Amino acid sequence: MRTGFYLLAAFVTAVAGSPAFRNMLVHEQRSAAPVGFVKGTAAPAAKVLNLRLALKQSDMAGLEKALFDVSTPGSALYGQHLTKEEVEAFVAPAAETVSLVQEWLAANDITAKTISPAGDWLQFSIPVSQANTLLQADFTVFDHPETGTQLTRTLAYSIPAALQGHVDLIHPTITFDNPLANLPVVSSPKILKEAIPDAAELESRAVPASCATKVTPACLQAFYGIPTTLATQSSNTLGVSGFIDQFANQADLTTFLKSFRTDLSSTTKFTLQTLDGGSNSQTASQAGVEANLDIQYTIGVASGVPTTFISVGDNFQDGNLEGFLDIINFLLAETNPPQVLTTSYGQNENTISSALANQLCNAYAQLGARGTSILFASGDGGVAGSQTTTCSKSFLPTFPSGCPFMTSVGATTGTTETAATFSSGGFSNFFARPSYQATAVSTYLTALGTTNSGKFNTSGRAFPDVSAQGQNVQIVVDKVTESVAGTSCSSPIFASVISLLNDRLIAAGKAPLGFLNPFLYSAAGAAALNDVTTGDNPGCGTNGFPAKAGWDPVTGLGTPNFAKLLTAVGL
Ligand SMILES: *[C@@H]1O[C@H](CO)[C@@H](O)[C@H](O)[C@H]1NC(C)=O
Repeated sequence: MRTGFYLLAAFVTAVAGSPAFRNMLVHEQRSAAPVGFVKGTAAPAAKVLNLRLALKQSDMAGLEKALFDVSTPGSALYGQHLTKEEVEAFVAPAAETVSLVQEWLAANDITAKTISPAGDWLQFSIPVSQANTLLQADFTVFDHPETGTQLTRTLAYSIPAALQGHVDLIHPTITFDNPLANLPVVSSPKILKEAIPDAAELESRAVPASCATKVTPACLQAFYGIPTTLATQSSNTLGVSGFIDQFANQADLTTFLKSFRTDLSSTTKFTLQTLDGGSNSQTASQAGVEANLDIQYTIGVASGVPTTFISVGDNFQDGNLEGFLDIINFLLAETNPPQVLTTSYGQNENTISSALANQLCNAYAQLGARGTSILFASGDGGVAGSQTTTCSKSFLPTFPSGCPFMTSVGATTGTTETAATFSSGGFSNFFARPSYQATAVSTYLTALGTTNSGKFNTSGRAFPDVSAQGQNVQIVVDKVTESVAGTSCSSPIFASVISLLNDRLIAAGKAPLGFLNPFLYSAAGAAALNDVTTGDNPGCGTNGFPAKAGWDPVTGLGTPNFAKLLTAVGL
């Protein structure tokens, strides 16, 4: 072995001296840092950068076809999800790609380790001085005064021309994460007069009148017909991702269940997984609002579904992606990943490079092909991004909602559901419109006419796909009940509905739903959702998009109707 190593090293030195890797080409660049960041001084030469390199995946087109084959109702392969090995065979880089890139790294005395199950991600650490030379980059410190965040980034970098088509991207380089994570907005109850229906109407739908001001699991059961009976399938799991080192507090969950789900055991527990130093101290005063919300509105809604909280710590290794890349590789490495994954975090699409967005999106396609339904909150800034962001010319789509291989969840409010004004929605600038939503979106665009024309990309993947209640939602934090708002509420609620459908499907010997969108946008799927046709999502000095009959970029196709969904999935 040693001899082989030395032989390889000798060979590599010869290559380094050859012109093979000398001709450099700009690989990724951006004109300026995103709004909110200020360019500072050159990064210290000795500062060590933990870089990740994505190798060209061998057959993403094949994986995409396989994903749609197993996710499109009526397809001969519907429900026949892929194994870990089958997915990895599509994603693994070609041998030539691996050896060329390893040659280049070794020629520069860099040892990289493989960090993804399919071998398509490498990681290595080098100082700024070496990175600047290796990549013809200009690593600089960028400040984000609003949060005090500092990022070391370059606005452009190059790779050898010989590696074009083999290296997909190197990160962190031109991607700036959003330091303002997609957290719930703690709101004081505020109700629009016209949103309160008369008592007779409430009575006919068995919605408690209190649901106009306080949304609880009982309200969601009434709104959406969500059953209270316990799920029966132990193999059916619901994953809840947590970031920024947040953990969910078990004592608060117990208090929540005692107040709002007296029919469930108040000691119902969640399973914990941690990565990147994620903690679970259970000190009540340190529990995260987001984590508590997400766990209370999964365990409290998806009655009896085994629920796992996946806590990503602050020690993330993916260059201020807050663990977004780490968690997906963590789950892809599992033999039995959760059938449903809900995430209430996101960022503005323009903060992330399109190549990196594409890589993350490909990872969601991989997990989707395995049979996982991936749901994300659409964001809380209306048309102005994941949180309200200054914008003048164009609306700000959010990530990962622009990715066509996940399900984006917007927010509604009121007992007669209307769009929540903060519900992010719009059109991606990175991802083209997938065929499953072509008809629904073009119908909307025709109805919209010239409103907001020039402010959004009419050919982009449109989001959100669906919605659920997101305002006046009652949670318990450090023993106290409070009201929160945000699409952060909507994603776990919709995910819980999907988990309960999966429980029944599995009990009937059928496959779980997996990647949802081809089903949701089908005639049967769309008809099983409550169309929300009023409200809008203002931002960027406009009224945003108006909700309309059919799909719209505020509430998507609508909110769940459990009974109709059961029929639509064939139960
Ligand atoms: C609009 O979206 C498409 C993808 O559908 C993309 O190729 C194009 O660059 C986008 N335009 C702008 C101005 O971002």
